[in-house]
Amino acid sequence: MIPIVDVTAQYLTLQHELDAAMRQVLAGGQFILGPNVTAFENEVASYLDVPYAVGLNSGTDALVLALRALDIGPGDEVITTPFSFAATSEAIASNGARAVFADIDPATFNLDPAAVAAAVTPKTQAIIVVHLFGQPARMEEIGAIASRHGLAVVEDCAQAFGATAGPQFVGTIGDIGCFSFFPSKNLGAYGDGGMITTRSEAIARRVRALRAHGAARKYYHDELGMNSRLDELQAALLRIKLPHVQRWNEMRAAVAKRYREGLKGRGDIALPVETPGTRHVYHQFTVRVPERDHVRERLLESFVQTMVYYPLPLHLQPVHRELGYSAGDFPEAEAAARGVLSLPMFPELSAGDQDTVIDRLRELVPAAVA
Ligand SMILES: Cc1ncc(COP(=O)(O)O)c(C=O)c1O
Repeated sequence: MIPIVDVTAQYLTLQHELDAAMRQVLAGGQFILGPNVTAFENEVASYLDVPYAVGLNSGTDALVLALRALDIGPGDEVITTPFSFAATSEAIASNGARAVFADIDPATFNLDPAAVAAAVTPKTQAIIVVHLFGQPARMEEIGAIASRHGLAVVEDCAQAFGATAGPQFVGTIGDIGCFSFFPSKNLGAYGDGGMITTRSEAIARRVRALRAHGAARKYYHDELGMNSRLDELQAALLRIKLPHVQRWNEMRAAVAKRYREGLKGRGDIALPVETPGTRHVYHQFTVRVPERDHVRERLLESFVQTMVYYPLPLHLQPVHRELGYSAGDFPEAEAAARGVLSLPMFPELSAGDQDTVIDRLRELVPAAVA
């Protein structure tokens, strides 16, 4: 089977260092908020060129605490994309605010700035952009809308560590960047992990307290928080991986290039579109094909694993029933959910395996005039 992702390949190449770091933490006896968490926060801040980074338990918590630090709650609206992982809108709802969806640009799968502008109401407090599949969202246009209406911008960078829009890394452009270190991400831990990044000292301080039960000073609780700390073991392992993430992202770009060359000229296979001026880090290589489910099943029969991210847009998820959306409200997101197919994508994917994926797909999707 050619897997969609192989999370053990990187362990094998860095086994010696990872094992040593793990043993050091186990023997050191400090497992929560120790020197590795602090060092990893500083190293990420320096890599991304942003003043503050705060390690958290997951990307989901990063989104939840980002909104909390912006004082977003009941009565507030937050605009976001209906074409994302559930955590994006879950974070809005779990803070008691209302998720207001805006449709996507069909070429990039990211928020369409015109749709965002049309969704602003007097209750809107923030926009959560998602850099889906590793492709930066249109930050300049969205930033302009936010400044016009005095809105905060939260970047969901779970799938986009190392991506850039203009000269800046994603996660450093809006007010708060939210990262996930879920094992299959571009920078993946060996368990859950997350982080927020920000230029605001006040936001960083607030999130540091919120991750520790709302206590800026131990055992003195200023507000309701939660337990959401990046653990020392994950931080130690992530520190070993961070210096390699640039190279891994370049390897992903090379895999993407080979897919493009192998699949070009097949008019019925829509390839990912790169937004000019941005660096896509190919967390996923997501195409659109006709008869997607049929193609997916046939690929699986030929031992090629693919995934559908995501089969049901967020506005149609039962959990958001009370928001009152229905089918047809966001036609581009709905069409994407019907047509997308993510192909095997990880830095170590071999050229031979990639060629097998390309050949099978070319056999399955009949050529059409491009
Ligand atoms: C777009 C997006 N947002 C948020 C998350 C949540 O991250 P985590 O799984 O670390 O909670 C993920 C990944 O799982 C994601 O893909």
